[in-house]
Amino acid sequence: MRTSLILACSAVTAHAANIVMSNDDGWAEINIRTFYQAIIAAGNSAFISAPAENKSGSGSLDATPEKLDEPCEFNSCPTGSPATGNNASMPQFNYVNSYPVTSIKYGIQTLASTLLPGPIDIAVTGPNVGSNLGLTTQLSGTVGAATEAAKEGIPAIAFSGSSGDATAWNVPAPSYALVYADLATNVTDTLLASGSPYLPKNVWLNVNFPDSDASTCSSASDFKFVLSRINTAVPIISGDDVSTCGNNKRLPTESDVVGTARCYASISVGHADTKLTASASEQSVVLQKLSSILSCLPS
Ligand SMILES: *[C@@H]1O[C@H](CO)[C@@H](O)[C@H](O)[C@H]1NC(C)=O
Ligand SMILES: *[C@@H]1O[C@H](CO)[C@@H](O)[C@H](O)[C@H]1NC(C)=O
Ligand SMILES: *[C@@H]1O[C@H](CO)[C@@H](O)[C@H](O)[C@H]1NC(C)=O
Repeated sequence: MRTSLILACSAVTAHAANIVMSNDDGWAEINIRTFYQAIIAAGNSAFISAPAENKSGSGSLDATPEKLDEPCEFNSCPTGSPATGNNASMPQFNYVNSYPVTSIKYGIQTLASTLLPGPIDIAVTGPNVGSNLGLTTQLSGTVGAATEAAKEGIPAIAFSGSSGDATAWNVPAPSYALVYADLATNVTDTLLASGSPYLPKNVWLNVNFPDSDASTCSSASDFKFVLSRINTAVPIISGDDVSTCGNNKRLPTESDVVGTARCYASISVGHADTKLTASASEQSVVLQKLSSILSCLPS
């Protein structure tokens, strides 16, 4: 008993990693703050570098940060604050008054060397307030930030959850935020435990969680992860997907997965340049790395 408990714990903490975190809903939204707490509790080092305001839907826009001409979202910084800044008592929490891509770039290129004990291992974004499924990935700033990190050579995962509304950081975390933070930490730590290189070059993961509330999918242990594709395959034109779950070389779309009753979360393998589904060989790498947490949809 005792041995297996120790082994189970070390599987989570053995790969203490250096992590940059961002989103598009803003640095003061409760989802990213709750995820930060879970990532730290799992033994990692991390910091947040995210937009000062809600920059939902800004894709891969990038612009020089500017002095605040209004308060940060939820009054989390005053009007007139500098273009970039942090929480004076929590220097790991940083805002950038610009887009998600600009924010994560600033984190990677400027903040990481002082806020982390070593080079960045992985970038994680979100959990986004609301799903980012299929072609929505083209518009999402949460996806934009993850693909920017991937283009800079850092393995990246974008997380999104369908439950909840924009919520300030300074209230008790809603239960969905806690569940999504647990699930996202599980995927992150499982990928890290699979060893470096964590993902193929220029590849990122798009992870979507279905609703979580008091009566449905109320705890992380209710969820199953299923490998999926981002965009719907076009007959003849789209290449094969990886073989798994007896699928005849075609993965379910991520919308199919989160649309299946009873707590199925989707994990898609994407290309940073197109933000669309990666090749079967890249999917195959991820299938092996995450095999310990992947399931099949009910047939
Ligand atoms: C800054 O950090 C302090 C201490 O953890 C906390 O009480 C406060 O709410 C934080 N404010 C923001 C905007 O993060
Ligand atoms: C950001 O704006 C989008 C729509 O523009 C909205 O759906 C979302 O809830 C907002 N998020 C925050 C944190 O205000
Ligand atoms: C991660 O999720 C899997 C499958 O859902 C579960 O079996 C496992 O216990 C979880 N691990 C952690 C560390 O939460």
